[in-house]
Amino acid sequence: MNVDYAEVSKTYDDYRSYPEDVINRIIEFGKISEGMRILDLGCGTGTVACNLLKLINAEIIGVDISLPMLQVAREKSLEVIYANADNGWLPFADNSFNAIIGAYVIHQINDLPLLFSECYRILCDGVLVLLTSSHKQIEAQHPVIKQFFPRCIDIDKSRFPDIRKIDYLLKSAGFKDNEHEEVMVENIPIDQTYLQKVKNKYVSTYHMLEQKEFQVGVKRLESFIKSRRQSDFRERRGTLICGRK
Ligand SMILES: C[S@@+](CC[C@H](N)C(=O)[O-])C[C@H]1O[C@@H](n2cnc3c(N)ncnc32)[C@H](O)[C@@H]1O
Repeated sequence: MNVDYAEVSKTYDDYRSYPEDVINRIIEFGKISEGMRILDLGCGTGTVACNLLKLINAEIIGVDISLPMLQVAREKSLEVIYANADNGWLPFADNSFNAIIGAYVIHQINDLPLLFSECYRILCDGVLVLLTSSHKQIEAQHPVIKQFFPRCIDIDKSRFPDIRKIDYLLKSAGFKDNEHEEVMVENIPIDQTYLQKVKNKYVSTYHMLEQKEFQVGVKRLESFIKSRRQSDFRERRGTLICGRK
């Protein structure tokens, strides 16, 4: 993990959330129902878990490698445990969960085959639901991003596994009946509020640019926003992908 999540944790909840539609699709995809025991893998500040709990009465445990992110989740009364999902072992017994959800976390994992076989081990007859971005979705980022931070596209393509690869790895770990579908993750106006989010590096990719390159992009984005009478909108799409045990 080369993102400073201690820093990110301070503003994460101000800048990142998911539309209710995405949470509903996770519930439908995962066939999530009342009373299930669910693991939120790479739970961060607990955004997904909290939104799920608003809609469904379930037992959710979050795991994450960042203590500051977990602290924010804990303040929301979520049950959370520190764990490194990249060391080949998750601290749970076999057949512990009915569902595992991992939103925007697998791109941070080096050994996905090991992680997926661990997920398989700790699931009972259940489902692993992942939310990520395909390479096509990364390429299709709003032109504003391409224009001002062009290297972000290549950076993300190199760290996000594409859907075919995820599908293959899920099958290799034993998962079956894999499905995937596109969802709208964010549709935000490119305005002063957005500029502030970018300045605070609200997505981890910005942390991977050289500081000078980042500053140049911010300056150009700033001039672009000043020159517009109306806000453009930036649409970010993602892919839900699931496999069943
Ligand atoms: C982009 S955030 C997503 C957080 C949350 N799932 C959400 O959608 O709001 C990625 C999270 O993955 C966590 N993470 C990264 N590497 C990890 C690892 N090896 N084990 C557990 N969590 C990890 C980070 O600490 C961070 O909280």
